[in-house]
Amino acid sequence: MFPLSNPSSSPESQIKKPKTPLDVRRKDSFRSPKAFLAAHYPSINQPRLCLFLSIFFIQILLLLALRSIPRSFHHRLHHFPAPVNAHHHLTPTLTTTTASISASTVKVETTCEFGEIFVYDLPSALNHELVNNCDELNPWSSSCAALSNDGFGPVASGISSVVPENLAAAWYWTDQFVTEVLFHNRILNHKCTTKDPNNATAFYIPFYVGLAVGKFLWLKNSSAKERDFHCEMMLKWVQDQPYFTRNDGWDHFLTMGRISWDFRRSKDEDWGSSCIHKLGMRNVTRLLIERNPWDYFDVGVPYPTGFHPRSDKDVVEWQDFVRNRKRKSLFCFAGAKRSKIKDDFRGLLWNHCRNESDSCRVVDCAGSKCSNGTSIILETFLDSVFCLQPRGDSFTRRSIFDCMIAGSIPVLFWKRTAYDQYEWFLPAEPESYSVFIDRNEVKNGTASIRKVLERYSEDEIRRMRERVIEYIPKFLYARPDEGLETIKDAFDVAIDGVLRRFKEQEQPGYRW
Ligand SMILES: *[C@@H]1O[C@H](CO)[C@@H](O)[C@H](O)[C@H]1NC(C)=O
Ligand SMILES: *[C@@H]1O[C@H](CO)[C@@H](O)[C@H](O)[C@H]1NC(C)=O
Ligand SMILES: *[C@@H]1O[C@H](CO)[C@@H](O)[C@H](O)[C@H]1NC(C)=O
Ligand SMILES: *[C@@H]1O[C@H](CO)[C@@H](O)[C@H](O)[C@H]1NC(C)=O
Ligand SMILES: *[C@@H]1O[C@H](CO)[C@@H](O)[C@H](O)[C@H]1NC(C)=O
Ligand SMILES: *[C@@H]1O[C@H](CO)[C@@H](O)[C@H](O)[C@H]1NC(C)=O
Repeated sequence: MFPLSNPSSSPESQIKKPKTPLDVRRKDSFRSPKAFLAAHYPSINQPRLCLFLSIFFIQILLLLALRSIPRSFHHRLHHFPAPVNAHHHLTPTLTTTTASISASTVKVETTCEFGEIFVYDLPSALNHELVNNCDELNPWSSSCAALSNDGFGPVASGISSVVPENLAAAWYWTDQFVTEVLFHNRILNHKCTTKDPNNATAFYIPFYVGLAVGKFLWLKNSSAKERDFHCEMMLKWVQDQPYFTRNDGWDHFLTMGRISWDFRRSKDEDWGSSCIHKLGMRNVTRLLIERNPWDYFDVGVPYPTGFHPRSDKDVVEWQDFVRNRKRKSLFCFAGAKRSKIKDDFRGLLWNHCRNESDSCRVVDCAGSKCSNGTSIILETFLDSVFCLQPRGDSFTRRSIFDCMIAGSIPVLFWKRTAYDQYEWFLPAEPESYSVFIDRNEVKNGTASIRKVLERYSEDEIRRMRERVIEYIPKFLYARPDEGLETIKDAFDVAIDGVLRRFKEQEQPGYRW
């Protein structure tokens, strides 16, 4: 059993949120660590600032030297426990049907105020041919099913017992690495595309780099050359285009369907492709499911989940469904232990959840138990008030979005799992929709996850869940090629963000 976490510290004083938008911080982090720190830690005192600054500079140097290694920057960690109220109920109050779509997620008919996008017609070896050869994309099995239905994958029939009947057809068995295909199909149908490159403020490169490199990541004998082949081919092609040099690549963007670290190899013998490190990529904006938080040009976009609504109505119905769901467990954990890793945090949470079986529901995903069409994960998230989200093999996991789409409140242990990743898609105040618990307190037994979560009142839980539900549209990739009628989904939010960013970059002196 776990003792109570440090009861003398006031929760209010632990709640701090960055005041500056992440973009500015990123930009400053390239130019002036001091400005970054001043913005981020306004209360820090002078001698500590100096010490901190020198440490920061050393970090920057290390970072530049070892850019291929995911590095963790040890912020002071805060958690956001609820103010004192001790009781909570697991049964939400039923609410009447109301559309809870925030103003920002609703499309407003405009005339593309941030400009138009030109989509390159790349050699098909860089996109369509890869999909056509779906049998050869991974060393063990065919990817053809995963890439079927325009990249959404097979319809998830196994899930129909868990979701409302008329929404079952909107659920797919979607692979997590398909954003390159999803974005390409959608962007060709976007209302702000132009056929005239002279009129474009943004250029999209529909290159399926993640699909191209996928199999080489796992083949022990693959050469650095093989892993860079498609990327080099793309760069050569794109750099020959007159519009690339016009703005040194600053107005170009692409989707990379895997995590950033798969494209940041520094030495030939290391992991991954070196695509992001190639010279021509320097100024190109990249949409990734996991970004490097220290690279301005990396933008985090949501992992694709299984729900792909056909209409606004699907979205609103789903929001109502998860809002009114009776949740039987306080929290849950779906994942696999990594027994080979010593002190694996996931194993710890797994055991913790097992030990608290009255309030925690555990789903064992060892092997491929959770990827065979089962509805058990979705059902578990639908039945739980909170879901535990440790880092996965990298900092992010698709499960965060699976959890939130089910209206469950995420409990995070690393800032880089969500807060430093999906700025355009998540509320700016972490404590408004999630719980952060210091992982070291869990490790050394000073924090009991159950007790931290039990401190949230019914009212606070309802408010947080409502926030999660309000943001659900931004985590979805809608099924129609034109998107939804009025609701903006993850794709719309990403494209708006890129266009707004490119507009901002046009300011004099912005580019570096
Ligand atoms: C490009 O812009 C020009 C002038 O703004 C306009 O006349 C032309 O129709 C535009 N071309 C396209 C394809 O939109
Ligand atoms: C690498 O190994 C695979 C299977 O083990 C084999 O088919 C392939 O020919 C090898 N490639 C090279 C370049 O040796
Ligand atoms: C990136 O942009 C900077 C500033 O505009 C420019 O000096 C540089 O040449 C660009 N790099 C590449 C590889 O295009
Ligand atoms: C779970 O319970 C077992 C047996 O009571 C105990 O040995 C173990 O330390 C507990 N683990 C966690 C993570 O709470
Ligand atoms: C998937 O695996 C689980 C656990 O092994 C099993 O209970 C379930 O029936 C399987 N589902 C399908 C659709 O094969
Ligand atoms: C447990 O870890 C927390 C966070 O690192 C630390 O503040 C606390 O002193 C530790 N407690 C014990 C008993 O080791």
